[in-house]
This record gives sequence, C-alpha cells and structure tokens, in this order.
Amino acid sequence: MNVYDSARMVDILSPLGYTLTDQPKNADMAILNTCHIREKASEKTFSELGRLRNMRKAKQEANKGDMMIAVAGCVAQAEGAEIMKRASFVNMVFGPQSYHKLPEMLAEAARGQGQILETDFPVEPKFDHLPDEAIDKNLSAFLTVQEGCDKFCAFCVVPYTRGAEFSRSISDIVVEAKRMLAAGTKEITLLGQNVNAYHGVGMDGQSASLARLIYELADLDGLKRLRYTTSHPLEMTEELCKAHRDVDILMPYLHLPVQAGSDKILDAMNRRHTSAEYLQIIEKLRSYRPDLALSGDFIVGFPGETESDFEDTLSLVREVEYAQAYSFKYSPRPGTPAAALDGQMIPENIKSERLARLQTLLNEQQLNFNKSFEGKEISVLLEREGKKEGQLIGRSPYMQSVYLQSQPHRIGRIAKVVIEEGNANSLRGKLKPGTVADAA
Ligand code: 5AD
Ligand code: SF4
Repeated sequence: MNVYDSARMVDILSPLGYTLTDQPKNADMAILNTCHIREKASEKTFSELGRLRNMRKAKQEANKGDMMIAVAGCVAQAEGAEIMKRASFVNMVFGPQSYHKLPEMLAEAARGQGQILETDFPVEPKFDHLPDEAIDKNLSAFLTVQEGCDKFCAFCVVPYTRGAEFSRSISDIVVEAKRMLAAGTKEITLLGQNVNAYHGVGMDGQSASLARLIYELADLDGLKRLRYTTSHPLEMTEELCKAHRDVDILMPYLHLPVQAGSDKILDAMNRRHTSAEYLQIIEKLRSYRPDLALSGDFIVGFPGETESDFEDTLSLVREVEYAQAYSFKYSPRPGTPAAALDGQMIPENIKSERLARLQTLLNEQQLNFNKSFEGKEISVLLEREGKKEGQLIGRSPYMQSVYLQSQPHRIGRIAKVVIEEGNANSLRGKLKPGTVADAA
C-alpha cells in the first residue's frame, strides 16, 4: 500500500512541477514513506532521516539549493510529535490519510511557517481529493479499494495508524481502473489492509461485497488479470470463494494470513477463528479452484507461545502446503494489547530459533511448489527486461517470477511458457514454440 500511496503523492506533486528522481542527493524534496508494522521497520525512519540530513547539508554547501524533508506514512501517524522533537530539521510530517493536502503543506512550508504536522483523520476521504491523472504506467498496478481495519488483532498497529475500515465506491474504483487500463495496465491488484472486508457503495447504491466488485471489474476491456490482497480468514465468504471458480481473470493465488496454528495463540491474538476453521476455508477454496496457490503470514514467539503451540504452527503449515509465505518474529508495538503482556514475552533466542525452523519448512514448500511446474506449460505476463542479454522477466498466474529468453517487443503480452526449471525463488522457461503471444 505504501507503493500505491507513494505513486499517488507523485501524481499530486507533478502539477506543481515536481518529478521523480533516482538521485536523492540532488532532490528539492525528499519524502520518506514509512512503515510502523514492526519495530525494525520503524527504526529505519530515524537512520534514513540522518542520511537525508547529510545529503541536504552537502547540497546546501555545494550551493545547489535546499532540500525539503518530509516524513509520511504510519510512523508519521503514530510518532509524529516524537519525530518533530528528535529530528527538528524535518519540514513536514503527515500520516497516510493526509497526503492529499501536500500542495497546501508545501505552500505553508514555503512561507517559512516552521514544522508542519498533519496526522488527523480527515472526515472527507482523501480519495475524493486525489488528482485524476494517474501517471502509474505499470503493466501490473495496485489499486487501493479499502483502507484501515476494525479487526484489532492484539499485536497489530494498523487499526491505530490507518484507522477504521473505509471502502471506496465501485464507481470510483471502475473509473480509476479504466484510467490504468488506458495507460497500458494489464494486471490490477486490488489493495486493502482487510480487502475482503470491502463493502463499498455498488452501482445500485447498495453496499457491495468484494466479490461484487470483482465481477464488475472482470468485464473491463483490456483487463487480463485481477488479484486482491490482503485478506482475513473471517471474511472469506462463499461468494468470494466461488469467484475463484467463476471469474477467469481472477488469478489462482491467495494471500490468506493465519499468523499461528495454535488455537490458544489464535485466541490470544484476537484472530477470532480456530486453526480447524482456517483449514476448512482452504479446503473449500481448493474445491472451487484446485490449483489455487496459497500464501500466508506467520508470527513466531507471540507472548505465551510454548514449544507445543509453535509445533501446532508447523503442523498447520504441513497441512496447507504454502506456495510462498512471510514469517516474522513477534515485535511488541506500543499501544497494542499484546505489548502489555509483560510476563509472557518470549526470549529473543527462542524466537530466532523458531523462526529459522519455520522458514526452513516454508522454503522447502516453496521449492517443491516451484519444482512441480517443471515440464508444464503456464501463461506468463511478460513485464520487463532482465539483466542478461535477451532475457525477459514475467509473472506466472501463481505470482512466481519467470525468466526466459525473448525479444523486448513482447513485453506486455501474455505468453505460453514451458517451464524447464523450478528454483527457490523463480522459474526458468522457454516460450512455447509455434505459439503467438496473446495480442496486447
Ligand atoms: N510483530 C510481528 N509481526 C507483525 N505483523 C503485524 N504486526 C506484527 C508484530 N507486532 C505481521 C503480521 C501481518 C503482517 C503484515 O505483519 O503477520 O499479517
Ligand atoms: Fe492488523 Fe490484519 Fe489484524 Fe487488521 S486483520 S489488525 S491489519 S493483522
């Protein structure tokens, strides 16, 4: 979502004459778009700010002008006042719901009105204030349809930093999707912290589900692939599961975090479902779409997690067989209920050891999944040139990166590729002889 938000900030700033640069040392303005989900991500903000301060100093000393420094995103939202204090050289601090006010904030800063802090949750949704001209010309693009979360998992800062659930209307989303398609996008990933809790206003003025939105988008001319992320197991409705069978452009890949396999820990995390219920959802999804590839998120070392609880996580992973997954050591976040479970914190060395065991298993499953494609033919969206001469990189329906030899004019097409080798993090294949790639 930060990638999407950063692209929108570029849209907002371009009428003011700003363009993106890959030379930060020459920039007139630097915006750090930050993440607060775990302590490590959060800490990076301050070290990066130190680097930017040095760049600004060097620029000023070389008489190349000033550099405006801004902090955006969830660290700004959660620790705005602290940033202003600890890094008094920062010009602007604004949260994820305020970036549409960038032009006003810039004008204020130019009038030399000191540091600017914008961390309110404005009543009018920021989406109403974003410019129409999307300059995001990616073949595969993100589109935010829902923001915020009301689930309040005990470890998570999102409900506090991104706020309550909000869904955009289907008509707004269709307009944005059409703009992306006109700019050449072939694949859209619908984004939301809790995307399957989507409940925007539908075309008939009634509240509409994510499945409804998917059906509306599926008919758009030029859209070849559709995905959505991230989902909560509690919101995997029958209608949405069925869409995986009935909508041909909905890709057979689902990121469905479970976090842990022990019912005791799931309860302490306030996930509001058991491991058996999660497994039933997976079974149902696979009955509708047998080739569905699953991805997940896991937290090890949540307060109170015993060896046996952790082994329940390993068993669940063995049962599901993930195609890909993210796993993290529990990181206490200020203000969340779990951070107050003082007596039950798990020592760092045990967290590290459990994470290593879990990752060994997940990596093994990922490799097995990738190897299972050897000799098979899959369709690949050719996205960009690789580092090697004549190499293209594309994406499979199951989110794997696919490397092959082909001409750059085929970028943007969906090609049939025969997979020769499945590796840990990618596939290698050959364009199927005699097949003409799908006209873009
Ligand atoms: N500690 C560790 N991992 C966390 N996540 C969210 N909060 C924490 C935390 N406090 C992980 C969850 C979530 C993913 C985006 O980040 O697994 O699904
Ligand atoms: Fe955080 Fe996801 Fe739980 Fe919401 S559902 S509180 S975003 S982990």
